Amino acid sequence: MKFCAPIFPMGTKGGIKEGLAKIQMPAGVFFNPHMQLCRDIFSLSIGALPEKKLSLCDCFAASGARGIRYKLENKNISKLSLVDWSLPAADACKKNIALNKLKNSRAYKSRMETFLAKRPSDFLEIDPFGTPAPYLHPAFASFSNAYSKSAYLSATATDTAVLCGAHSDACYKIYQCSPLNCEFCHENAIRILISKIARTAADFEYGISPLFSFSHRHYVKVLLRVQKGAAFAVSSIKTLGYVSYCPKCLYREWAKFPTKKTCACGTILLHSGPMWLGPLWEKGHVQKMLQLLPARPYLQQAQLQKILCTVESELSLPPFYYDAHALCKKLKIGAHSLEALQNSLAQKGFCFSRTHFLPTGFRTDAPIEEIKKALL
Ligand SMILES: C[S@@+](CC[C@H](N)C(=O)[O-])C[C@H]1O[C@@H](n2cnc3c(N)ncnc32)[C@H](O)[C@@H]1O
Ligand SMILES: [Zn+2]
Repeated sequence: MKFCAPIFPMGTKGGIKEGLAKIQMPAGVFFNPHMQLCRDIFSLSIGALPEKKLSLCDCFAASGARGIRYKLENKNISKLSLVDWSLPAADACKKNIALNKLKNSRAYKSRMETFLAKRPSDFLEIDPFGTPAPYLHPAFASFSNAYSKSAYLSATATDTAVLCGAHSDACYKIYQCSPLNCEFCHENAIRILISKIARTAADFEYGISPLFSFSHRHYVKVLLRVQKGAAFAVSSIKTLGYVSYCPKCLYREWAKFPTKKTCACGTILLHSGPMWLGPLWEKGHVQKMLQLLPARPYLQQAQLQKILCTVESELSLPPFYYDAHALCKKLKIGAHSLEALQNSLAQKGFCFSRTHFLPTGFRTDAPIEEIKKALL
């Protein structure tokens, strides 16, 4: 497992304010200020959940910044547990709970695996160093031991190099998936992560449905609804499949199992999976997030608005975005404006959207030959 050095190894005098929370970080307690946008967007995502009373466990709490913000900023979190196996971190959580005058909140010095075996919660936040894979089993065992009919799980993965195909053996080992190092590798990364979660969920007879997926900087993160029952588990597993990709002409197709060995251009296709082929977002959930955003005290309001609007426009379009930059390079032409491409494709009746995954990325239902014609 990769270990990131604490971003503030010396601690911060006086602490910081993030969202509605005041947070102090003593020496040796991990805190990454670059994850503020991530904490903003997933706090918003929690606010958009329909339940009125949820108990939440931040299983990798560090300073407690994430869990404390989730509770302070959302009325639907009625109880908070902050868990970290490091003593300085658990102490910092305790102090930060007091600093923010949080009720029904407690800090625990514990491994999340042992903690969850005794104390279940409705919502589990899994934000470890590197991959969340080893922690999915204790998370679903905990839902199962509590006979939870429905629950929520949010998991972050910072091993994006593994998920994006830079180390395929590690991806086989950790996620039991073959990755793909290509222009839509960040979407593949999320789909592989969800596939691993769906397969672990099925071991405990749970099904999953993604409410919000996000790729930014060095991490990918998902928030999923978890539902008990064989039918939910089977339906999730039946949503897994493979993408087949041609590195020469950039053609791609997806299906439960790969159907072709060779692309129409004669190149051997590369296959990646088993990955989640279903939706990455629930439309109503994203719309609720957009509704809630203006009332939030977030520094990066404009950026969050832009991200959510892009997600809203991409969520109903086909998976596996294209990259205009990669296509232009293949066609040996200069950079092309996305607006012009959108207009050309719209004239022929094709859908088009940008994607939050990549500034030069886009989604369309147009076949690759039509996209290339529109670019030339
Ligand atoms: C990436 S940091 C969490 C960051 C935090 N969620 C935030 O947003 O600031 C991971 C934390 O998990 C703790 N940790 C690692 N393995 C653990 C385990 N098995 N159980 C509980 N805590 C663990 C580490 O001590 C570290 O503080
Ligand atoms: Zn091809």
